[in-house]
Amino acid sequence: MKRIAILTSGGDAPGMNAAIRAATRTAIEQGAEVFGVRNGYEGLIHGDLIPLSARDVGGIIELGGTLLGSARSPRFKTEEGSGEAIETLRQWGIDGVIVIGGNGSQAGALSLSKAGVAVNGVASTIDNDLFGSEMCIGVDTALNITLEAIDRLRTTATSHHRVFIVEVMGRDCGYLALASGLAGGAEVIVTPECPLPPPLVLERIHEARRRGKRHAMVIVSEHAKHDANCLYNCLLEDRDACFDPRLTVLGHVVRGGRPSAFDRLLATRLASRAAELLLANDTGNLIGLIGGNATPTPFEEVVGKAKPLPAELLKLADTMRL
Ligand code: F6P
Repeated sequence: MKRIAILTSGGDAPGMNAAIRAATRTAIEQGAEVFGVRNGYEGLIHGDLIPLSARDVGGIIELGGTLLGSARSPRFKTEEGSGEAIETLRQWGIDGVIVIGGNGSQAGALSLSKAGVAVNGVASTIDNDLFGSEMCIGVDTALNITLEAIDRLRTTATSHHRVFIVEVMGRDCGYLALASGLAGGAEVIVTPECPLPPPLVLERIHEARRRGKRHAMVIVSEHAKHDANCLYNCLLEDRDACFDPRLTVLGHVVRGGRPSAFDRLLATRLASRAAELLLANDTGNLIGLIGGNATPTPFEEVVGKAKPLPAELLKLADTMRL
């Protein structure tokens, strides 16, 4: 009987539990024994594994976060740390690993794969910055929470004739800002990929006022060149200010909570496929959503590659702010 280990790593994402459940049940159904690694690569280094049965992963599909815990592990990036992790796998007699996580986690999976470990990855990050998956687990939920916040803030913006600067997560990827800004009717969207200089942001706000708008919503990615704080300060100093400015940082609020139906289904499909392929000795791949299908792509083609923002959304955002 094969023994496989599942770990979740990096920032947690709504839907990770659904992925753990799907990988566990698929592997058990195919006759494998399943272990969960606590706290990502840290748990692998320290031999922190627990057996997972089909019942152990019951009642978690609707929960955010990850039952196994997660961590960012600088130690795993060292030769010593990854050596200890591989030793844990040997001691526990683990034949294959499933890594559920984003860019950094899949870089770890690639290093395990290069060291001869059978491993498959599952694309899971609210940032949607992972090459090899059009949508990652957690994005839909985070997007909907961001959108709800924007809708709520807009009511106050309209009542008080204000401009709201809203900072959203996404690390170096502007997908969450772009998609929520577009769906939330933002006047200005600022991302790391499309940095707008502050004078242009101010001009667009004035333009919105001239067109008769009673408020302005400016959605800014956390790592934009001119970030939310910088833009807020520019607005405070704007002598011709047409709206009263306010700043809201959404932060981790959008990363927690119940996964949406889309994320539960996506997680179930991607993780189940990852387990199937692992048990069929088809390894070394990230499983992501491509063209509507759960599709494997070799780690080498995925890790470290910058994923561009969808050109269609960028073009639409420009038109819709009119
Ligand atoms: O990768 C997910 C993410 O939430 C990013 O959007 C954000 O930059 C980062 O993690 C925050 O990391 P932490 O939870 O370690 O503060």
